[in-house]
Amino acid sequence: MTDSPPDLRGRRILLGVCGGIAAYKAADLSRRLIEAGADVQVVMTDNAARFVGAATFQALTGKPVRDSLWDAQAESHMGHIELARWADLILVAPASANTLARLAHGLADDLLATLVLASDRPLAVAPAMNRLMWNAPATQDNLATLRARGVRVLGPGAGFQACGETGEGRMREPSDLRDDVAGLLGPHGPLAGRHAVVTAGPTREPIDPVRFITNRSSGKQGYALARALAQLGARVSLISGPTQLAVPPGCVRIEVETAAQMCAAALDAAASAELFVGTAAVADYRVQDVATDKIKKTGTTMQLALVRNDDILVRVRAARPDLFMVGFAAETENLEAHARDKLARKQLNLIAANRVGPGRAFDVDDNQLSVYWAGGQRELASAPKDVLARELALLIAEHFVTGP
Ligand code: CTP
Repeated sequence: MTDSPPDLRGRRILLGVCGGIAAYKAADLSRRLIEAGADVQVVMTDNAARFVGAATFQALTGKPVRDSLWDAQAESHMGHIELARWADLILVAPASANTLARLAHGLADDLLATLVLASDRPLAVAPAMNRLMWNAPATQDNLATLRARGVRVLGPGAGFQACGETGEGRMREPSDLRDDVAGLLGPHGPLAGRHAVVTAGPTREPIDPVRFITNRSSGKQGYALARALAQLGARVSLISGPTQLAVPPGCVRIEVETAAQMCAAALDAAASAELFVGTAAVADYRVQDVATDKIKKTGTTMQLALVRNDDILVRVRAARPDLFMVGFAAETENLEAHARDKLARKQLNLIAANRVGPGRAFDVDDNQLSVYWAGGQRELASAPKDVLARELALLIAEHFVTGP
């Protein structure tokens, strides 16, 4: 399960609700699908209406529930054949033993069964029934038939059942079904199927076994951007210095500490990437001779010799001249001049620049960005980092898709 809803914006889900006590969970499921951005049309069977009211679904989805083939008003608005084609996915949850049998045998004796028969869209069912009904040979045969036709059977889970028994047959939890739906529909958006690498967070340069040099970067902007790129369909490798943040959905995290480790991981991931975004606050220098033992205090002053770290963006560009690359610039003054200098020097396609200083950008939730590219610029106004990340991800996708 993911820690936040997947992105189902623009996806159309026809949710078939059958009779059974789990019908009440279908209300929660429809709410979770809507929260994830999906457009949900509920179709109820007659038996479902005995367990939960159509008004509940109507209030949650903002759409009248469809429950009859013979509703002249609803049919004139969107006929059942049109409705069958409207959906990106038909999900029957809960799917009763009776409806599974009707679907397996191709009956068209109510609206839901007719829609399934009239649709060429992917069909998923989430069975919910008593454990004996689930294990009945007839039910298992029907499921085998449905599976053989490519129908996805989600669950059921095992556990306590409303009838007082314990066993297999519980409907999968609504949040799990929502995530299943996202998985079945697959990534979509302008970056669907593209591999993006994002570096994020600070690096730590050791001085001795207990001390290190680091900076104030929290990683929030980089993580928000990684999440936003994943929401646009990208498969994201997130190369991260030490942070307190959870891995965003759709991202695989590669944890590093030093700039040298981040550089090696970046070169490795970039080999198969199409998009590279450097948000990390990489230490420009590392300690020349890291002490193997804890350094003892001696004089009133001490000196550390530092050596330059490689610039990760420069190294990646040298290895991949064709890669679409985005950098960040944190500046206290002359924002545009410094940012454009880095854009050219690091041979980037885009650079996102922000002013830093006390109370600005590092470790705060709001930020603002000026984005520059050869021959253009765009201002992204002050906003929470996740909103800004979404806007920047869209801008990156726009430039990536249309080319430099
Ligand atoms: N960067 C990098 N590797 C480094 C240093 C920086 O990949 N060793 C990347 C950062 O992730 C960011 C961009 O380069 O995308 C700009 O980083 P910044 O530290 O602001 O710029 P510098 O190149 O270090 O320039 P200066 O020190 O002059 O500000």
